[in-house]
Amino acid sequence: MANSPEQPKVVILYDTKSEGGSTDRFIEKLGMTFAETGAYVEKVKCKTRADYSFVKEFDIIVMGAPVYYLVVSSELLGAIIQSNLRRNLRRKNIALFLTCGSPEPMANLLYMPQMKAHLLTNKILEEKVFAPHELSDDEAVAGYVERILRAHRLASRNRSASLEWSDEALDMLEQIPSFFRNRVKTATEEYAEEMGYSTITLDVIDEAKAQLEG
Ligand SMILES: Cc1cc2nc3c(=O)[nH]c(=O)nc-3n(C[C@H](O)[C@H](O)[C@H](O)COP(=O)(O)O)c2cc1C
Repeated sequence: MANSPEQPKVVILYDTKSEGGSTDRFIEKLGMTFAETGAYVEKVKCKTRADYSFVKEFDIIVMGAPVYYLVVSSELLGAIIQSNLRRNLRRKNIALFLTCGSPEPMANLLYMPQMKAHLLTNKILEEKVFAPHELSDDEAVAGYVERILRAHRLASRNRSASLEWSDEALDMLEQIPSFFRNRVKTATEEYAEEMGYSTITLDVIDEAKAQLEG
């Protein structure tokens, strides 16, 4: 599966209490819009108590839900607070959205922090409050997707530019089958960046591998 910065793997984690409602229809559109750019995309409706280790496999995690009675929908918020989701989101690029009826300034002040307060160490690529009329607006959705992908490409480029690979580590990377090489490169660079390494050596590759498998 491709996961170069141009064709990232995207997972949309969401919640709604209305089956077939406005959020469900929006998620369909969001998924299709990502897919049209060449991204690999999956959609997962959250449960508070679930195993979220699968998110490690994705390059971009898009998360959001409606607001009901001043609170972000409970299964998504519960998953962030109570499950292993937050641990598996480490080093991940995240985009957030909300669907709600309140004006944007109010939503940014009252609702967005309900998610962001638990994601302080993550890179938030983009966040958007979707008003009811924007949920089915092709341009609003396409703009959101475009900004996420642009920020992801930039973050990947900046990370690669600030890291060096030792000759031995590069040799090792080149031995990995091409379909899997980008995944290993990105995961190792994400690990090195978090650990503050400026050069990726064979030891760093081993550490990154052990941490991913652990
Ligand atoms: C019972 C209920 C409570 C709501 N409470 C809020 C609220 O407190 N603040 C807000 O901005 N929007 C509120 N909304 C608007 C929803 O967040 C918005 O319509 C959303 O798109 C609904 O998503 P759904 O169709 O998937 O349920 C509420 C909607 C409903 C039905």
